[in-house]
Amino acid sequence: MHEEARAFVIGYPIAHSRSPLIHRFWLEQLRTMGSYDRLEVLPDALSEFVKQMRAKKWRGCNVTIPHKQAIMDLVDDVSPEARHIGAANTLWFDDDQLKATNTDAYGFAANMDDYAPRWKSAKTCLIIGAGGAARAVIYACRQVGIGSITIVNRTTTKAEKLSEDFDVQAADMTEALRDISPFELIINTTSAGMGDISPLPIDFKSAQSAAIAADIVYAPLNTQFLLSARAHGLHTVDGLGMLLHQAVPGFEKWFGRRPKVNLPLRRLILSDLGEPT
Ligand code: ATR
Repeated sequence: MHEEARAFVIGYPIAHSRSPLIHRFWLEQLRTMGSYDRLEVLPDALSEFVKQMRAKKWRGCNVTIPHKQAIMDLVDDVSPEARHIGAANTLWFDDDQLKATNTDAYGFAANMDDYAPRWKSAKTCLIIGAGGAARAVIYACRQVGIGSITIVNRTTTKAEKLSEDFDVQAADMTEALRDISPFELIINTTSAGMGDISPLPIDFKSAQSAAIAADIVYAPLNTQFLLSARAHGLHTVDGLGMLLHQAVPGFEKWFGRRPKVNLPLRRLILSDLGEPT
């Protein structure tokens, strides 16, 4: 008998993952047989999960915090992209080989292509933050050939580490945010400005009038960073499309059809986020 195509998102905690909403929307829209479920996997149960996935012939999974690094030691093949970014978020089987890649850089780029297609021709870019997400964004910016990339971070040593890993520049955060005039593209990857966290001391008055400001945070959708950029007339891109697009390659690998990121999907997630649709 034909096995049901099953895929999962694993993490700890996992209750708030929106991936099931996205993949179930596509399963239904494309009338595809299959399932996609959340699974709480504690760090010491990760290798057991991988064994189970092999034994039960599940199609694969998305991987989130805290497993994105550890999972790379448990698969048969890690893509150059995941290796360079230092984290994997998508696993699938190619024959019996368990493969892992990172689709965040793809998701970021596809979202920029949707909402600010001229991002690709930017020559200068400022990336704020030095966490895992920043690594994927740097990778994407390098891929499209943005020549001058500057990284700033509250903790300077982390920005310096990234500048070495990716061969880009690191700068002092306070100074760079005081005068953003050199940058055609300004990208926030930090949680600054969310909830009680104080916003970034960024002076959008100093920005080029044609500059693009992008955030990878999607909850809230309109971050302090984006509101402020918009108030100064900048073109802005929110983070929701990155979440939606990063899911596309996994769905295609597990279920055999390439899904589309469209307005009904965006509206579904916006309503789950409590945002106006
Ligand atoms: P992610 O994987 O989403 O990138 P992360 O690895 O926890 O998450 O990184 C969070 C980023 O947000 C870091 O760059 C962090 O700065 P530090 O390295 O100095 O911790 C940044 N960040 C969080 N709160 C911030 C704040 N209030 N001001 C500026 N940066 C902040």
